[in-house]
Amino acid sequence: MDSQLIKTVNKLQDAFSTVGVHNPISLPEIAVIGSQSSGKSSVLENIVGRDFLPRGSGIVTRRPLILQLINRPAEKSTDKEVNMNENEDPNQWGEFLHLPGKKFYNFDKIREEIVKDTELKTGKNVGISPQPINLRIFSPNVLTLTMVDLPGLTKVPVGDQPKDIEKQIRDMLLKYITKPNAIILAVTAANQDLANSDGLKLAREVDPEGLRTIGVLTKVDLMDQGTDVIDILAGRVIPLRLGYVPVVNRGQRDIDSKKSITKALTAEKDFFEGHTAYRSKAQYCGTPFLARKLNMILMHHIRNTLPEIKAKIQNALVKYQQEFAQLGDPLGDGSANQANLVLNIITEFCTEFRTIIDGNSNDLSS
Ligand code: GDP
Ligand code: NA
Ligand code: MG
Repeated sequence: MDSQLIKTVNKLQDAFSTVGVHNPISLPEIAVIGSQSSGKSSVLENIVGRDFLPRGSGIVTRRPLILQLINRPAEKSTDKEVNMNENEDPNQWGEFLHLPGKKFYNFDKIREEIVKDTELKTGKNVGISPQPINLRIFSPNVLTLTMVDLPGLTKVPVGDQPKDIEKQIRDMLLKYITKPNAIILAVTAANQDLANSDGLKLAREVDPEGLRTIGVLTKVDLMDQGTDVIDILAGRVIPLRLGYVPVVNRGQRDIDSKKSITKALTAEKDFFEGHTAYRSKAQYCGTPFLARKLNMILMHHIRNTLPEIKAKIQNALVKYQQEFAQLGDPLGDGSANQANLVLNIITEFCTEFRTIIDGNSNDLSS
């Protein structure tokens, strides 16, 4: 996630809490949908920038995972605690709702716990369940928002799966993407026909105008030689208002060999920059561009929310001023001063947002 946006939102949240308004900005939830093994969990994990989700061929994600990212500034002393491994950081950890108070600093252990709790509720024989797993991740490098990883759309039941698996999964996904402020990442593998994309079809049911659906094309590296996604990106196949982003995630061999996210992102960049079809538009390809696009959408959302919050604070301010006027002490009013301060900050932010958004608005209509 974009550090500028994280800083901006933190500053805004801090300003609000000084006048007693907590979490005034609730950012939209981001939900990933698509066919089984299209790469949904891989995309989500790359956006978060940490390795912690179970991924692989077949139906790996079998319950919704509600992932709450919580921004928490780093503690001043960053001395590693005793017993911490090389890749652990005292400022970044996960906590499960079903294991209150237990902090996971080791993200591999988070993945193990997701697998364990999935099996506990669904059995080992590829059953599914709508009962979500709730995971919170605390980190200085995330925006406070919610992402949902979901089981993939599938038609044919296997193992312990119910006969009506297709309907059960559809209903499960609809519950998350119907919310009017959810952002839908409709994931389709680029080596499949876009016209048959289950994710896009479902997204269209709840967002027919495509106002909150981003098309994500995975497995671009697995396309047949001589084929590419240029026509899709240009909106000549199934146009989407927010457009498509092609990405290259880690393949199964990379997962097995524990290739790091950093290495994977470098490989992705090299892929698009080295490919004759994508070279000239490499800046609109890959995970970093997808993250930027998401940031822009979130920023628009914040900007649209601000007038309402501003009105609320203005009302509070008038109320404070009247109360203090009645006490005959119009000047000794700390609360009103703070409210004024916050209004100034909001006004400043509105300007700042406009500058950032105007400078990037091409990103949204590529
Ligand atoms: P999900 O079932 O939609 O959540 O998909 P996963 O993220 O679990 O990925 C399914 C399989 O596809 C895994 O073996 C991944 O390694 C592989 N995969 C996902 N995205 C890509 C990609 O862009 N390129 C390649 N080569 N493999 C991918
Ligand atoms: Na999978
Ligand atoms: Mg998955």
